[in-house]
Amino acid sequence: MPLNIIVGAQWGDEGKGHITDLLAAEASIVARYSGGDNAGHTVAISDETYKLHLIPSGIIHPGVLCLVGNGVVLNPAVFVREMNGLAERGIDVSARRLKISYKTHLITPAHIALDKARELERGNEAIGTTLRGIGPAYTDKARRTGLRAGHFADKEALADAVYEHIVESNKTLQNLYQMEPLDAEKIAAEFTGYADRLAPHLCNVDLVIEKAIEEGKPVLAEGAQGTLLDIDHGTYPFVTSSAPTAGGALTGLGIGPKHVDRIVGVAKAFTTRVGGGPFPTELDGDAASRLRGTGENPWDEYGTTTGRPRRVGWLDLVILYHARRVNSLTEFVVTKLDILSGFDEIPVCVAYEFDGERIKHIPADLDQLGRCRPVYETVPGWQEDIMQARRLSDLPANARRYVDFIAEKTGVPVSYISVGPAREQFIVQG
Ligand code: GDP
Ligand code: IMO
Ligand code: MG
Repeated sequence: MPLNIIVGAQWGDEGKGHITDLLAAEASIVARYSGGDNAGHTVAISDETYKLHLIPSGIIHPGVLCLVGNGVVLNPAVFVREMNGLAERGIDVSARRLKISYKTHLITPAHIALDKARELERGNEAIGTTLRGIGPAYTDKARRTGLRAGHFADKEALADAVYEHIVESNKTLQNLYQMEPLDAEKIAAEFTGYADRLAPHLCNVDLVIEKAIEEGKPVLAEGAQGTLLDIDHGTYPFVTSSAPTAGGALTGLGIGPKHVDRIVGVAKAFTTRVGGGPFPTELDGDAASRLRGTGENPWDEYGTTTGRPRRVGWLDLVILYHARRVNSLTEFVVTKLDILSGFDEIPVCVAYEFDGERIKHIPADLDQLGRCRPVYETVPGWQEDIMQARRLSDLPANARRYVDFIAEKTGVPVSYISVGPAREQFIVQG
């Protein structure tokens, strides 16, 4: 049985949590493979809304085993808080159904302090990170000085390792950034507390996935962030520090490509971005306000993790061509189509104009991307509220045409259309 992968096709916040919840109904395992609590995934079920940062969005389905892979960076304070919040709401987060890889790297208060210091130092060139310590934790992983969840199995060794790590980080914080040192002893003690709580959750994620696949149980890999935030294939340096793309699902869980079946690119019906960096179809004015919303609705475009207003713009198909190529997408799921109701016409970017030439790829060079101007085709809009639509035939003809336009231009079929945040608000296509 297969491994299905969910990836964000744009700059994150495409609705991956919602779609993971949807597809988790048919999965026996849901596994997070990249990022950390920079992610904010929303799952809405009837009156209940869950905002998940580290725990896989499959957790709301009682029968699903949830795994945190080696590609993730895990802040144990956030993880424990999230577990407690879910447990209070009656969700089973016991070690029986929520597991962490021994190889998952840990985020410490030093990583968070360094993230803040480096962003401050960048000034106007700041990346606009979520300040969750993501970059510094992956830096330590690459430097081979990181702490791994496996340390939770040996409290004494953990306390020593955390103590050393904080003392070492203090050198940088004090000498390079003139910041107050962190209390190494206190943090080491805190981490031994997390070890008590989290050691029972440790497992060999790669072996668990291999066994599930051998037994014919479907596995769903839940991406965080999005293709354009990928450290290699995104808009570097305005990216995150991991690989949220399909390749990252394999290295982030410890499994090869042989078993992969569906690679689902979640694409919002328009484009959003949080933080700095180029954004060719970015809008301001009335259209932007309508796409972003005022903040009254829970789905309005304000960050799940940071509360920051998201930058918004028209749908950019050059981004989706890129996502198709980088991830070998087998399908798109289009989300938030309901937000486009009420526009007379909807411009869609189908190519870029770059120094007098028409191109259909994202230039690797950021200055070049900054010089790209979107080439729009205009698709007729629709006025009806479509949040109650459940079948294709419930959609106005122009809404169907908009989705068909995406499929035709990208050459990738659209398998689901999402018309609202709740579990039942989707349409199966084809
Ligand atoms: P993720 O990071 O990709 O999981 O996305 P987020 O949860 O950060 O942001 C997506 C927001 O849109 C959340 O508030 C979702 O509940 C909401 N959402 C998802 N799909 C739809 C949809 O089709 N329509 C509307 N109106 N909201 C949606
Ligand atoms: P989900 O999973 C949107 C962005 C940040 C910043 C850049 C680097 O909810 O889609 P980092 O803290 O990772 O070093 O920040 O990446 N970013 C996200 N934007 N959704 C996310 O996750 C993001 N995770 C990181 O805003 O621009
Ligand atoms: Mg999000």
